[in-house]
Amino acid sequence: EKDGYEHFMLKEIHEQPKAIRDTLAARLKEGVVDLSREISLTPEELKRFDKVHIVACGTAYHAGLIGKSVIESLVRIPVEVDIASEYRYRNPILTPSTLVIVISQSGETADTLAALREAKQAGARVLGITNVVGSSVAREADEVLMTWAGPEIAVASTKAYTSQLIAIYLLGLYLARVLGTQPEEQLLEVTEALPRLSEQVKSILEDHGSIRKFAEKIAQHENLFFIGRGLDYPVVLEGSLKLKEISYIHSEAYAAGELKHGTLALIEEGIPVIALATQQAVHDKMVSNIIEVKARGAHVLGLGLEGRTDLDRSVDEHITIPETLSLLTPVLSVIPLQLLAYYTSTARGINVDKPRNLAKSVTVE
Ligand code: F6R
Repeated sequence: EKDGYEHFMLKEIHEQPKAIRDTLAARLKEGVVDLSREISLTPEELKRFDKVHIVACGTAYHAGLIGKSVIESLVRIPVEVDIASEYRYRNPILTPSTLVIVISQSGETADTLAALREAKQAGARVLGITNVVGSSVAREADEVLMTWAGPEIAVASTKAYTSQLIAIYLLGLYLARVLGTQPEEQLLEVTEALPRLSEQVKSILEDHGSIRKFAEKIAQHENLFFIGRGLDYPVVLEGSLKLKEISYIHSEAYAAGELKHGTLALIEEGIPVIALATQQAVHDKMVSNIIEVKARGAHVLGLGLEGRTDLDRSVDEHITIPETLSLLTPVLSVIPLQLLAYYTSTARGINVDKPRNLAKSVTVE
């Protein structure tokens, strides 16, 4: 059942090109995203929403952070993102013109479900993004957008996460088209780049020798840092969570500009820093942050875009992802981080698919 892979996690990492394709299929045709068969809200109803809340836990929450940027940039509606266990107890401001998006692979996470119920109770419309047909989220949400990643067995979520991102891009593009919030050409640019992601993920998976080597190095460490700016920031949060949960190595993910506000004090000789630099708009700022940690002795793995040669001069080790729009890089940049977590875990002899203390689906508070 592992199809020759040593672990479910590795199998599921390699299933991502297909999960992306399947999640896009039937929703994207000839450069147009159409969700009208799945989402029953009419254009008039969609126009009435004046804000969006995204609520989820763990990895799904990290997908939600990317969802905020995607929806805000494409749809120009304010989006708040909350951890479900916080949201349900913070008395959020919910009205009938709030669209609440809950994201849950299993569709059974207790806090996420409680948030869904609370939002419905308050009269908000709830859209669920889930991977399990017939799950509680699928049954109870007003609207459902399925991810088609197939069953995810490994505790550490991989293909469900990239599929959640695809669902979010589809939703953002659909809302933007229906509400007319972006020029057609701009939507077309994103819509045309989306289906290429599947092949691009495949190419990253085919060539990951340097990630494996770096994983063997960090397996000796007890502390490390991830840094990024813009959309790279939620991706490093996800990379750090993945590494913690299956390698038991402590790591922290920082918005790189925050380093000087305290954390830089922890950077000392030899500490590994994984730096993402895929966002064009903040590229030079990110390079300055890398130089800052290098000056304190950090050993830096830089992850940038193919064809940007200036990064390799400032880092100790350099890996690249294929070029795509800045908005879409999270689907690609998370792949090396998943592999890094996986190979670090195996280098440490940990039970990758079933890390200690964790359950696949958190159905109790
Ligand atoms: C981490 C991981 C968890 C889940 C979280 C939410 O790899 O898998 O953080 O993302 O427990 O689970 P779902 O998406 O099922 O609600």
